Amino acid sequence: MLATRTLVEEIADLKRERRAILLAHHYQEPEIQEIADSIGDSLELARAARKFDGEVIVFCGVRFMAETAKVLNPNRTVVLPDWNASCSLVDNCPVEPIRAYRRAHPDHVIVAYINTSVEVKAEADILCTSRNAVDVVNSIPRDKTILFLPDRNLGAWVQQKTGRPNFKIWQGACVVHATFPARRLTEAKLKFPHAMVAAHPECPPSVLAMADFVGSTSAIIQHCVASPADEWIIMTESGVRFSLERLAPGKRFHFVANEHCNCSECPFMKLNTLEKVRDCLIDLTPRIEIAPEVMVRALRPIERMLAL
Ligand code: 13P
Ligand code: SF4
Repeated sequence: MLATRTLVEEIADLKRERRAILLAHHYQEPEIQEIADSIGDSLELARAARKFDGEVIVFCGVRFMAETAKVLNPNRTVVLPDWNASCSLVDNCPVEPIRAYRRAHPDHVIVAYINTSVEVKAEADILCTSRNAVDVVNSIPRDKTILFLPDRNLGAWVQQKTGRPNFKIWQGACVVHATFPARRLTEAKLKFPHAMVAAHPECPPSVLAMADFVGSTSAIIQHCVASPADEWIIMTESGVRFSLERLAPGKRFHFVANEHCNCSECPFMKLNTLEKVRDCLIDLTPRIEIAPEVMVRALRPIERMLAL
């Protein structure tokens, strides 16, 4: 306990010295969320990165989120506590086939989920997150053909919500959400018959069909806190428990294990630790470095999304 307190104090001192801000996604370990300047979903953290006026951003999340913060802050230092904090959606969507698609279909609109590499973002017309994907797609003229990438479940959900014709979906999947089986949700509903269900749109359609609410991580938290229902089955990564229990202490939240790890944890998000946060503030590594021309091209679709 004493050692942890000392580490937290050390991080606080380093943050002051470095003029650093610590941004944490909802899937981070509770001890990281406790010391964060801002906790949020991927859209909120992109907005927080844009408003920031210090010198260093410690991005406690995954690499594509830190890259987005860097594109928005080209002259500031952005560090990621663990360089291996990737994302299965990024890994499912290499840039070469996207460039080939762009060349073959110059008139199509490429909508890239924020869970893509910065190189893929540079090929996109507009970005989206799970929070604003429906609004982003609705902002595109209906006669346009859209390539939505890379999450197949989010894509199918957006297509259902918008009723878009000519909507092509890349077949990537999140290793955490796509492996939540509907069968396990059914079991949870039988075990907790009074509980409502909130799900992230990266879950399979069979899970989303059983949900009372579908939304981004922050949208799930806000909905469960504001709703009169006091018991919820939460179909997303279990890091959201931190904010759910802090903001709605009287309510009960149940999580369902997926088939990937028999848990509900993102293996990439959980690579970050307090020790690594301290170390990256000392060394300013691992540091996000992006080629200037990629940075300039990736900024356009990000700004388009943020302007909506
Ligand atoms: P949010 O946009 O809801 O934060 O989701 C990001 C993510 O990686 C979900 O798995
Ligand atoms: Fe990527 Fe899934 Fe982890 Fe989110 S939960 S960062 S989509 S692997």
